[in-house]
Amino acid sequence: MAAPLQLGVIGVGRMGAVHARTISPSPLVDVVAVADTDTAAAAAVAGEIGASPCGSTDHLLDIDGIDAWLIATPTSTHPALVREALAAGLHVLCEKPLSLDLADSSSLGAEASQAGRILQIGFWRRFSPPWATAKRLIDSGAIGRPLMVRLSQWDADPPPASFCDPKASGGLAIDCGVHEFDLAEWITGREVERVTSFTLPLVDQSLAEVGDVDNLVAVLEMGDGVVATVDLSRNCRYDDDVRTEILGEQGAIFVDLLPTGRTRLATSSGIEVVAGSETDDAFGVGIRTQAEAFARAVAGEDIDIPLAVASTRAVATGLAIQQAAATGPVVL
Ligand SMILES: NC(=O)c1ccc[n+]([C@@H]2O[C@H](COP(=O)([O-])OP(=O)(O)OC[C@H]3O[C@@H](n4cnc5c(N)ncnc54)[C@H](O)[C@@H]3O)[C@@H](O)[C@H]2O)c1
Repeated sequence: MAAPLQLGVIGVGRMGAVHARTISPSPLVDVVAVADTDTAAAAAVAGEIGASPCGSTDHLLDIDGIDAWLIATPTSTHPALVREALAAGLHVLCEKPLSLDLADSSSLGAEASQAGRILQIGFWRRFSPPWATAKRLIDSGAIGRPLMVRLSQWDADPPPASFCDPKASGGLAIDCGVHEFDLAEWITGREVERVTSFTLPLVDQSLAEVGDVDNLVAVLEMGDGVVATVDLSRNCRYDDDVRTEILGEQGAIFVDLLPTGRTRLATSSGIEVVAGSETDDAFGVGIRTQAEAFARAVAGEDIDIPLAVASTRAVATGLAIQQAAATGPVVL
């Protein structure tokens, strides 16, 4: 077995702290340092997991032996930090989305390839047992050719309006939607070609000030006639919920996050919970397995991981959805 990946985590706010805590017990990854411009946050998380705290990336670059950075800072900071990592010869696992700018997103992917470094995007659902099982079932032909997909991401409550601001995070269609658009393409193996979308009347009026919405429905027309519907909400109140349903020629696959992560296969033989898909922590297992896949890719294993192009494609779909809500259907 290769030596554990020596990882520095940058940004230990809402998401980065989860990464640092969840990944640190893995035998494949050593979280050796955490960096945050909020030095108290860096010290607190570093103290919890036995890593070195850093107040800046300069300080992080002074630590010997680091192979890679996990970037979990606000989205607008991703491109500069990715470039800083590549310039230092490091591999990168970057939170989604890589960049809100499509040209820059493509360029970052090309720069990583030229540097011979892995630039993986944090689409953790691909690594979480319920969705990984669904993908395996589709690829093995368990329900025949996929025809339609329904993807729901309903969050309990909205983050602050300053975070929802489309200029900061991409807004609902991108910040939340990219996970679903990536799943739609990854699970079906088809690309989004045309989108139609509808935004619903605002629930949280503070979002009007930043120009975001809290509920939307989109129809994604994909290759080979596959159609996906995506519905996103920031106000379901009961919990953060994600559901994915795929209908094929010979049955269906249902992926649930609540009340427990699981995949059900429904065919003419009946409906069964698929062995190996069940987990009561689909998020945590996805986050840890994602980092382990990154470590394996860095070690040279040929493994299916989401690269920059996955983020570029998902952001392009999100931008088209924002436009389509105002203008009608948009061709990608
Ligand atoms: N994959 C997911 O499911 C998921 C969920 C939530 C957030 N995210 C993504 O994670 C990223 C961070 O989101 P968040 O909600 O954790 O944000 P956050 O504001 O809670 O945390 C960001 C942290 O980064 C620090 N920071 C900012 N600039 C920095 C810099 N230049 N160097 C070092 N530290 C810096 C801040 O002090 C803060 O602690 C975003 O890109 C977001 O899209 C992904």
